[in-house]
Amino acid sequence: MTNTNTEFKWNRKHLIGLQELSAQEIEFILDTAKGFEQVSTRSVKKAPTLRGKVVVNMFFEDSTRTRISFGLAASRLSADVVEFTKKSSSVSKGESLIDTAMNLEAMGIDTVVVRHSAGGAPKLLTQCINACVINAGDGYHEHPTQGLLDVYTMREKKGSLKGQKVAIVGDIAHSRVARSNIWALTKLGAEVTLVGPPTLMPAKVHELPVKVCYDLDEVIEEIDIINMLRIQFERMGGSPFPSVREYQRFFGLTVDRMKRAKSDIVVMHPGPINRGVEIESEVADGANSVILEQVSNGLAIRMAVLYLVNQAAANESKSK
Ligand code: NCD
Repeated sequence: MTNTNTEFKWNRKHLIGLQELSAQEIEFILDTAKGFEQVSTRSVKKAPTLRGKVVVNMFFEDSTRTRISFGLAASRLSADVVEFTKKSSSVSKGESLIDTAMNLEAMGIDTVVVRHSAGGAPKLLTQCINACVINAGDGYHEHPTQGLLDVYTMREKKGSLKGQKVAIVGDIAHSRVARSNIWALTKLGAEVTLVGPPTLMPAKVHELPVKVCYDLDEVIEEIDIINMLRIQFERMGGSPFPSVREYQRFFGLTVDRMKRAKSDIVVMHPGPINRGVEIESEVADGANSVILEQVSNGLAIRMAVLYLVNQAAANESKSK
């Protein structure tokens, strides 16, 4: 593992959000991930970095990419991985998040990767257990490893993020991905515009360090990177717009809209995609799309984060 940034010393044993990280810390994670990228290209995809460590994947909400990516990242670093899901555990019998985590810790775990519908759940865990805690998405709050893999992918495509015009489009109100993107991007010097209908903007949107626009056609010609979000129907009561067709007409990334965009625009989506709603299939699978590269890069990011938090924990116990 190589990281040319030797001046800096990482000392966080938890990763809860990107809002609290400095630009230097974010860049350090990205540089560390770059060093881990080559592990996945070897014929034996393993590094001994976390041998003897136990990582628990604790997912209280459904997930495909994030859960598999964390599991794979931990096993590529030679950790033992325990999979925990709400449905098959005693949580369905009423056991709380904290009790569950304390029982897991009694079995000697080192890291908990947690996804929960309540914003703040991972932070609460850090106060109750000694293990490292990594947030894999909490309510509408943050999804830091998604934010990191997004800026990593953008940096790979564009070099520096300074001055890049990034639009985040769609259901901002219910998106933890949007929040983690906003913090990482603005800290790294990008100009962020949130685009969507007023009903899908968060209440205090004007307090965020971003521009807000309610019309995708107004900005499509000038943006360098576009990050499309899924409409998170499972998180809302009623419908926030008259019809899905109407939404697609105003905010969908269609082949027609792409004709007006810069020829080298980078098209992103955190997944899962709703083809034909926020993005047309031809665009999702088209030459400007980096959607699958985001998924591949997620692995290197999660290896880096698992490595760094465990290293900080080891340094902490050495100094006690
Ligand atoms: C996102 C999530 O769960 O917040 N997905 C992901 O982790 N890649 C976005 C979404 O569910 O739309």
